Amino acid sequence: ARSRSGAATSHEVAADRPTHGTPSRRDDVLAWVGRIADLAQPDRIVWVDGGDAQHELLVREMVSTGTLLPLNPELRPDSYLARSDPGDVARVESRTFICSPTRAEAGPTNNWRDPAEMRQTLAGLFDGAMRGRTLYVVPFSMGPVDSPLARFGIEITDSPYVVASMRIMTRSGAAALARIDDGAAWVPAVHSVGAPLGPDDVDVPWPCNPEKYIVHFPAEREIWSYGSGYGGNALLGKKCFALRIASVIARDEGWLAEHMLLVRVTSPEGRRTHVAAAFPSACGKTNLAMLRPTLPGWSVETLGDDIVWMAPREGDDGVTRLHAINPEAGFFGVAPGTGWESNPTAMETLRRGVIFTNVALTDDGDVWWEGQTSQPPAHLIDWQGRDWTPDAGRPAAHPNSRFTVSAAQCPTMAADWEDPAGVPLDAILFGGRRPSTVPLVTQADSWEAGVLLGASIASERTAAAEGTVGELRRDPFAMLPFTGYAVADYLAHWLEVGRGLGTGAPAIFGVNWFRKDDGGRFLWPGFGENTRVIAWIADRVAGTVGGRSTPIGHVPNPGDLDVTGLGLSEADLDELLDVDPVAWRAELTRAGAYLEELRAPAALRRALDVAIDRL
Ligand code: GDP
Ligand code: PGA
Ligand code: MN
Ligand code: MN
Repeated sequence: ARSRSGAATSHEVAADRPTHGTPSRRDDVLAWVGRIADLAQPDRIVWVDGGDAQHELLVREMVSTGTLLPLNPELRPDSYLARSDPGDVARVESRTFICSPTRAEAGPTNNWRDPAEMRQTLAGLFDGAMRGRTLYVVPFSMGPVDSPLARFGIEITDSPYVVASMRIMTRSGAAALARIDDGAAWVPAVHSVGAPLGPDDVDVPWPCNPEKYIVHFPAEREIWSYGSGYGGNALLGKKCFALRIASVIARDEGWLAEHMLLVRVTSPEGRRTHVAAAFPSACGKTNLAMLRPTLPGWSVETLGDDIVWMAPREGDDGVTRLHAINPEAGFFGVAPGTGWESNPTAMETLRRGVIFTNVALTDDGDVWWEGQTSQPPAHLIDWQGRDWTPDAGRPAAHPNSRFTVSAAQCPTMAADWEDPAGVPLDAILFGGRRPSTVPLVTQADSWEAGVLLGASIASERTAAAEGTVGELRRDPFAMLPFTGYAVADYLAHWLEVGRGLGTGAPAIFGVNWFRKDDGGRFLWPGFGENTRVIAWIADRVAGTVGGRSTPIGHVPNPGDLDVTGLGLSEADLDELLDVDPVAWRAELTRAGAYLEELRAPAALRRALDVAIDRL
């Protein structure tokens, strides 16, 4: 056997274990794959090329092991249902680690572990972890492969579900490997479900391990994930790379990696506004990205629904603006609440070629989840494979059940969504689920006030991560679980980027679709009707609509917002646009205490004090 640290040639790797597919031509890649294979001891190695033949084989295998259940091809062609282990349904923030050289670099909001200790733990966990399984090598690109903003990675995984999902969510396979072989930098990402098989073991449909580790080494730009098959824990291009590791790369290189959707809004006059928006998980990004306007003449095109990378670049007019791309190639969306009424664009996107996870199965072999139709079917098989009827007293689909589907299938995708240059950004929105206090929309009066607004996001917890649903938690920039370094430095970086942009900086807004009345009813209809807020935002950017100045920024006067046909009472509209000084003084005081805890830049704390004084 060769030493773990020693370089291996492709010949040695091939001689060790059966190897299929076309390996990399790069020695460092081959050496790394060889090292992981020596450690994890898989039965075979497959280099994933992204092509149809390999993919079909993989799917057939997953169908035979029960990992994927084919849906009725007449109702949902080329689509599958996966049912996870009931203990592996969401991101595990308490098991997510940032192993920077020092605790201070990870900051107070991340779980820090000493990198050397963690490496030892991982070496133990991965020792023999892939026995009886196949090690897949998945080269991938985040961003269109030709974009100057694209970054590359290689995920090693023993989960065919991950391989098939990465094929939808990233540009994976031969094209990405070609770039890496040509010399592009690449992020190593190792994943195992942590369930080795003995010679006589029969596999389960969703192997995983109760012990989970989602580990990042920001200094080395390296990812290790153990024990989970769930999207955010296992598709390492997404949260681990495109947010946690990329946020560190972006800090070092002067750009931003953010938990945001990206859309192009076009007004009736043909004026284009590019808008990015950060909301915490399960707070409406995918829905807003697929917005179907309810105001005549307005259109919205989709560019991305979860992650945006943006970099300052000088335009032909000499103005430096943020140019934004969506580094992903698919949607990993929340199923519950998605229906023909609320999000017809998503429903059209989901007609074929979908991997559903933890939704319910109908008697005719299609899928259902809460909110897809107003009336549930009389009988279903629920997400855990049990019989379900409407009186069951439990949801048929898991509240965090998901669809994985290619963005190219979305009918509202902008024709140029893969433009390597990206789009110039005009507005950034911050929001969350706030039943009270936070108005429907606010425009920050400066970049600094906008950064304060992003830093002060608080939102009710959702099913997208472990924890008590509904509990209010602070989530600066909707990045609390995704920032790969100290949040105070992250805030300082945002201020710094804004200084570099000057007049080219996008306008910043706060939004809240989730304000409720005393009876717990949403005051705002939301979904397509959010167009009315988006129109005000676009018109504010153009300077064509009014607003009233408040201590927390500008809000629309009742007459500035087009609410015709909504049947909204005057009292409800007033409530939606109200900035209550007492509630806001309490809100900002809490935000101030939190910023203090984070050791946020003094400039932000000063901006906060100014607002409190004005109240
Ligand atoms: P994401 O995880 O941030 O992408 O959020 P989604 O767009 O998937 O939405 C998460 C949940 O919030 C779903 O159940 C949606 O139906 C619901 N939702 C999205 N937009 C709105 C809205 O404008 N109003 C209300 N009341 N619910 C919404
Ligand atoms: P979401 O993405 O933001 O669409 O919920 C997944 C996640 O953040 O876990
Ligand atoms: Mn997300
Ligand atoms: Mn989403």
